[in-house]
Amino acid sequence: MALSLADLGKAVLETEYAVRGPIVARAQELEKAGREIIYCNIGNPQALEQKPISWVRKILALAEYPKLSELAPNAFPADVQEVVKRILEGSKHGLGAYSESKGVRCIREAVAQFIRERDGIDADPDSIYLTDGASKGVQAALRMLISSPQDGIMVPIPQYPLYSATITLYEGKQVNYYLDEENDWRLSEQMLEESLAEAKRFGVKVKGIVVINPGNPTGAVIDADNISMIIGFAKKHNLSILADEVYQENVYRQGQKFTSFAKVMHDRGDTDVSLFSFHSTSKGFWGECGHRGGYFEIRNVPSDVTAQILKMQSVSLCSSLPGQVAVYCMVRTPKKGEASHDEYVRERDAILGELKTRARLLADGLNKIPGFRCNEVAGAMYAFPRMELPKGMTDSQWCMQLLEEEGICVVPGSGFGQIPGTAHFRTTILPPTKKLAEVVERIARFYKKTMAAI
Ligand SMILES: Cc1ncc(COP(=O)(O)O)c(C=O)c1O
Repeated sequence: MALSLADLGKAVLETEYAVRGPIVARAQELEKAGREIIYCNIGNPQALEQKPISWVRKILALAEYPKLSELAPNAFPADVQEVVKRILEGSKHGLGAYSESKGVRCIREAVAQFIRERDGIDADPDSIYLTDGASKGVQAALRMLISSPQDGIMVPIPQYPLYSATITLYEGKQVNYYLDEENDWRLSEQMLEESLAEAKRFGVKVKGIVVINPGNPTGAVIDADNISMIIGFAKKHNLSILADEVYQENVYRQGQKFTSFAKVMHDRGDTDVSLFSFHSTSKGFWGECGHRGGYFEIRNVPSDVTAQILKMQSVSLCSSLPGQVAVYCMVRTPKKGEASHDEYVRERDAILGELKTRARLLADGLNKIPGFRCNEVAGAMYAFPRMELPKGMTDSQWCMQLLEEEGICVVPGSGFGQIPGTAHFRTTILPPTKKLAEVVERIARFYKKTMAAI
């Protein structure tokens, strides 16, 4: 007899991932039937016409096929050749062989150097693990923390569904804390304390707290003070911190900058709060989602625990070598005076400039719709507007109808979590600027129609 649903575990059946849920499945059906669909459901920049950064592609091409330097000697500038030589020497056997479980040592050294330069603090290559995208790092950390069905992880609401899905899969408890929409999605200590106290009342043993900064789906960027408050809270309650920092290059609001948890923790002098920080080649201006490059860095984790982390990483041998090389390109960018520098800066600034324009265009456009309220998109790649809906209508129903009528694919707020009784959706800022203006127009038109029908 073939496999049936009854053979599968409850955790698998209960796992949900809204970003690729039923609305996306319907969008694909409509597209197959010849409809033009504008996909605003997922942060996948190169699927929406973003061009790859030449630096990473030249290095990947040459590292995969070193003979190219003879076949096309002018295609690979000296700095690209130099970097590829380092990678190939560092990896010893090229990209077709497994590396050590944590990833190629010289790439981890480059990540450590990147952290030192970004934060002005020390970093240890042995505390860095290269992973297939940040997702695998997050899953590894959650796997370490969840050891019984009563173990809880605090997760922001709204959140990126990687967290809810993985906690469900590992049979832990998701402990929600609400971000303050009226206050630019900031975290308040009171909210954190209340959510923890509530979980404890239900017998949940809270082990960790997830913070996504810059935020998905909120588009918010939190400052050093807010980060320091969270670290203090984690310290007080013996929680590990999972700092999801994959959007660290995506900060658009004038006067704001990304601050890492590692830096604030260092500045506070905390040595007893365990920290997992995640980064990825998928976001920023790289958008190399398909290459699956990422890393996590651990701080304040005792050596017997790191031995277990290493053991768990070893079970899947190592992350993809092309992904590791993409990480190298992300952390070791062309320096002033090197052959690729000007091209790199031009490409990077063009992408970040476009994203900034679109962030403003989207939030301003949505705020002009009566019945909508959208916080400024200060960072990341998303807006998460709140809308009034006719009584009895859910945001999932509205998003499905928006797709059917206007060909726009967004994700309902319920997929990320929201205060009960409110309705939101998430849209990316990624469609090309002209298309994004059209997205706003179509959303406005459809929303007007929805409200006129009451
Ligand atoms: C907040 C956040 N974390 C992690 C990821 C995972 O990215 P990847 O696995 O491609 O690095 C994403 C992807 O959209 C994300 O938005």
